[in-house]
Amino acid sequence: MGITKAVIPAAGFGTRFLPVTKAQPKEMMPVLDKPTIQYVVEEAVEAGIDDILIITGRGKQAIEQHFDKSYELEEELKADGKLDRLDRVQKIADLADIHYVRQKEREGLGDAVLYARKHVGDEPFALLLGDTIIQNGTPCTESLIDEAEAHDTSVLSLERVPWEQVSSYGVADTSDVDSTSGSFPVNDFVEKPPQEEAPSNLAITGRYVLTSEIFELLEATEKGVGSELQLTDAIRKLDAVRGVELDGDRYDIGNIPSWLQANIEMALHHDDGEINKAVEKLLREQSL
Ligand code: G1P
Repeated sequence: MGITKAVIPAAGFGTRFLPVTKAQPKEMMPVLDKPTIQYVVEEAVEAGIDDILIITGRGKQAIEQHFDKSYELEEELKADGKLDRLDRVQKIADLADIHYVRQKEREGLGDAVLYARKHVGDEPFALLLGDTIIQNGTPCTESLIDEAEAHDTSVLSLERVPWEQVSSYGVADTSDVDSTSGSFPVNDFVEKPPQEEAPSNLAITGRYVLTSEIFELLEATEKGVGSELQLTDAIRKLDAVRGVELDGDRYDIGNIPSWLQANIEMALHHDDGEINKAVEKLLREQSL
């Protein structure tokens, strides 16, 4: 079960981020000096993937521009002797073979994934949501691929979230399962359940390895929560699905607090001291 392809849905509206997302895809929101989707592509590449399909839609052209070669910019950086920056810019265009397909109507994540059917064919593939960054810890997609190959099944990354947030996620039913280490079988999933009906607080994090049966199942799935075709509703029909608990920091940059948190935490992580000092000063002043 060699996995060489990744699919990155990046077609959703960034409504929670308006007006910034009026003319700019939410996946291009910067976290430090890179747009969000570059972190996602890099995670796939680090997992050994060299063929990536990004599902875009109207108004998402900036994503294609970002991963393309930029002759004019490169010439200018060369002429100015800014070789460090030149190197960083050139590397983006060489990350992987990136293909694009446009989702015509925004009918949900399941519908977006169906657009990958022709490109993916009969192979298992990695699926990474384009608005979610995972940092630190065990590389997420790489570990999902390892588990999928070891068990020959679909595998999802799961994370325990506060109970009051379960209704924003797909949630795993792992009753009677030892979910304390490695990967474990998941009995069922439910998309965005009310808190009192949620089978657990183990949420789908936006990283999957799926077998190609998912496409047929999606075709046969009715619209679900929010009148959208829900990927989770097709995943629950797969013969076997395993879960792996996420070991890392996850940021859903589609909402402002999480995007801010990503910037602050990652800045503190990569900082040479300046941001640490600024944050310490702020906290001192706040606690006075
Ligand atoms: C999607 C999925 C959901 C998953 C979530 C992770 O929901 O449908 O199962 O838990 O991503 O971010 P969305 O956030 O697009 O509503």
